[in-house]
Amino acid sequence: MSYLSVKKAEKFDIEINTIASDKSISHRSAIFSLLSDKPSSIKNFLRAEDTLNTLNIVRLLGAEVADDGEMIVITPPESFKEPSEILYCGNSGTAMRLFMGFLAPHEGFYILHGDKYLASRPMRRVADPLRKIGANIDGRVKGNLSPIAIRGAKLEGFTYASPISSAQVKSAMILAALYADGMSEFSEPRLSRDHTERMLVGMGAEIIADKDKIKILPLTAPLKPLDITVPSDPSSGFFFAVAAAIIPESRVVIQDVSLNPTRIEAYKVLQRMGTNIEFIAKEEVYEPIGDIVVQYGALKAVSVEENIAWLIDELPALSIVMAVAKGTSVIKNAAELRVKESDRITTVVDNLKICGIDCKEYEDGYEIVGGKFVGDGVIDSHGDHRIAMSFAIAGLLGSIMIEDIECINTSFPNFITLLENITKVSYGD
Ligand code: S3P
Repeated sequence: MSYLSVKKAEKFDIEINTIASDKSISHRSAIFSLLSDKPSSIKNFLRAEDTLNTLNIVRLLGAEVADDGEMIVITPPESFKEPSEILYCGNSGTAMRLFMGFLAPHEGFYILHGDKYLASRPMRRVADPLRKIGANIDGRVKGNLSPIAIRGAKLEGFTYASPISSAQVKSAMILAALYADGMSEFSEPRLSRDHTERMLVGMGAEIIADKDKIKILPLTAPLKPLDITVPSDPSSGFFFAVAAAIIPESRVVIQDVSLNPTRIEAYKVLQRMGTNIEFIAKEEVYEPIGDIVVQYGALKAVSVEENIAWLIDELPALSIVMAVAKGTSVIKNAAELRVKESDRITTVVDNLKICGIDCKEYEDGYEIVGGKFVGDGVIDSHGDHRIAMSFAIAGLLGSIMIEDIECINTSFPNFITLLENITKVSYGD
């Protein structure tokens, strides 16, 4: 089993312009290119396992993918190919759920599958509403778990109020609505990340989002192709924001990152805890992009109960800051953490306890009592990239070894190289 050993760090001051490209936008760039009849150009596509699997699925559906190492050009097929192979999504819930919505209205037979972690994550949240509008979808455990089999069918326009705020559910339903018969309406309890709406509107889709609901008109013609430079991923950048927040007198500048308000909430929580943060907007490519400057400040505990969908991916890393902040921090309304790449409520709490931190699990979150970090622990990532990287950053407080680190390649292949700018690391099999 692979391991990563991270040594305690001294203060640092760095600028990073090579944070991994945004995972959500990369998946969408590849999939949405299929909605046009012209070639889409994508620069800075995330070359990590999850998104390369998505690119391969796009290829198996008949698209031509030209890649000169810098720019990826995707030319959609005139009509989709019925693939003879399984469409392998690896570790990615985003890929599986978005493809379910996209493929459900497309004639043909498709099987989506993933690794052992993805195979235990719930797909009913997408399969059920799709089935209600005519989709022919099945899977293990009454259609909830992959492999997921889809026989393309004619779909009806719909009104669907999702019980959860999930960008994956929303995106799957929007993709299905683009090919449904008649207008559709989608709503969710609180706005989830909105890359899908922004990108599709930019491509010319008739999607009208107001405060309470999104109206989607079916496509009458192919959309305009994408021409996009994918910004850096604020969720990946957040690991280095946490590093600067926990090591006194440190500073990091994270460059050219998405400043989409539905993605930077965790940085705002850090600000509330006492870290100095500056957002510098630079340009707009489907959404705002710029730099984030993060500088150490004395940390106090915080309670996080709102806008959970806007920081769900950053909660494991934020828990490392909570572990050293003064007072007791609380996360609530975050039951979704239990169905991520691992049960992140249990994996965060169990691993923090190994580091000597007093914490308690709730059904929908946890409580962390800030204290002294005890180094030299051995942490199990449970195959979850964000757990592996969060505890690698915790290692900056007192040396830590993380086991099972291959998962880091699903989203942030150059993470360890960047960490080496801050401290000494060793890794191996
Ligand atoms: C994602 C949405 C979020 C997030 C995931 C990526 C996306 O999941 O946790 O890492 O790209 O749509 P949910 O939509 O299920 O909350």
